[in-house]
Amino acid sequence: MKEKISRTDFLKKGAVASSGVAALTFLGAGLVKTTKASATETSTAWPWPYVALDPEVVRIKGHDTFWAGYACSAGAFDAIISALQESVGDPYTNFPTKLMVFGHGGGAGWGTLCGSLNGAAAAISLVTDKATSDLLVNELIGWYTLEKFPSDTSNTYATAHTFTNNNHDMELPQGICGSPLCHVSVTHWCEVADKAVGSNERKERCARLTGDIAAKAVELLNAHFDGSFVSYYVAPDSVGDCLACHGGAGMVANVAMKQTCIPCHGAEPHSSSFGDPGALNHTFKVKQNFPNPFNSNTTIEFTLPKPENVTIEVYNLNGQHIKTLASNKHYTAGDYSLQWNGNDEHGQSVESGMYFSELELVRA
Ligand code: HEC
Ligand code: HEC
Repeated sequence: MKEKISRTDFLKKGAVASSGVAALTFLGAGLVKTTKASATETSTAWPWPYVALDPEVVRIKGHDTFWAGYACSAGAFDAIISALQESVGDPYTNFPTKLMVFGHGGGAGWGTLCGSLNGAAAAISLVTDKATSDLLVNELIGWYTLEKFPSDTSNTYATAHTFTNNNHDMELPQGICGSPLCHVSVTHWCEVADKAVGSNERKERCARLTGDIAAKAVELLNAHFDGSFVSYYVAPDSVGDCLACHGGAGMVANVAMKQTCIPCHGAEPHSSSFGDPGALNHTFKVKQNFPNPFNSNTTIEFTLPKPENVTIEVYNLNGQHIKTLASNKHYTAGDYSLQWNGNDEHGQSVESGMYFSELELVRA
């Protein structure tokens, strides 16, 4: 029998989101009346009409609107809506496509939901019913947490001068956000790229990301409307693990959210071991690895109160196996530390991002 005991999380070349949380705010567009001359005119029925759009046209528009002074949230919304204006016309011609401007910097600079996600999600909600909107926005946000930004496509557009605005055509490093929070996404990228938050590089990174997210939203909408939408996002195990007790159906039932809990609360939020505060052996311990974040080597420490056979695995945020650090290895009681050099099973250095280690006691 394998007993899964504990996990610890760490970032390769990244920053830990330790605090500063706020609620995820979705601010979708509401019903908008078309402004026709007649006083008896009825409003356009919601959801509004959608036709398949070209994600690459939208990617370029999003980048351009960002730099036109409207930033990420209005940029992503306007990219999709102005493309619909061109394809559909009314009702899209009669309403302010920059209305999501408040969403920049995670809501007027408050660092909550990434503005590009907010803007793209509002566009999705304008053309779909609630159930579809939830499905597509969930996929968009989940995809965002695992993806590298800026995308390869955006980086290529910038260096090849495919964007309309080519003032910032530098190569940019990519980083995985791990979280839909503007604060985590931006700050993590600043750490990975070694750039200041006010630099043109960081702004250009968010401009490319604005285009990337608007393009992804259009891909999801196109797939939904032609019947080919498939959901690929799978939440990290930790979400289900914690929500088993803290979620609506659990014994504590005090948490409603889909973000992974570990970057903020750690793998061992309770004074006892992970998973089951009542039942597990309280003297068994896995410490937070150090240094965290790390560039070349990180140390994972653990304490065994009695002799055990131990397996230690490293996983990425998507639950994919990266590396086995110990396989059914016998340890006597005591304190141990293991090194991980950031390489996978094939000796390749893993990408920047968040990783988990999991220790299992292998018992007959
Ligand atoms: C087996 C059920 C169970 C699981 C699984 C569980 N918790 Fe808890 N958690 C509890 C209970 C019970 C409390 C105490 C609740 C109370 O006092 O109201 C608690 C309390 C907390 C608290 C409040 C601080 C504290 O120490 O009292 C935090 C934060 C927390 N849990 C986070 C998490 C996270 C993050 C996970 C996943 C890594 C998790 N929990 C998994 C049952 C669980
Ligand atoms: C982005 C960071 C972040 C994430 C992600 C997060 N939390 Fe929290 N959580 C917080 C903060 C900040 C507080 C407030 C702490 C306080 O007031 O002391 C909190 C409070 C809590 C509390 C109440 C703690 C108390 O002192 O009673 C529980 C329980 C909890 N979170 C569980 C979870 C669970 C379960 C998840 C994952 C499904 C989760 N949290 C995800 C940051 C986060």
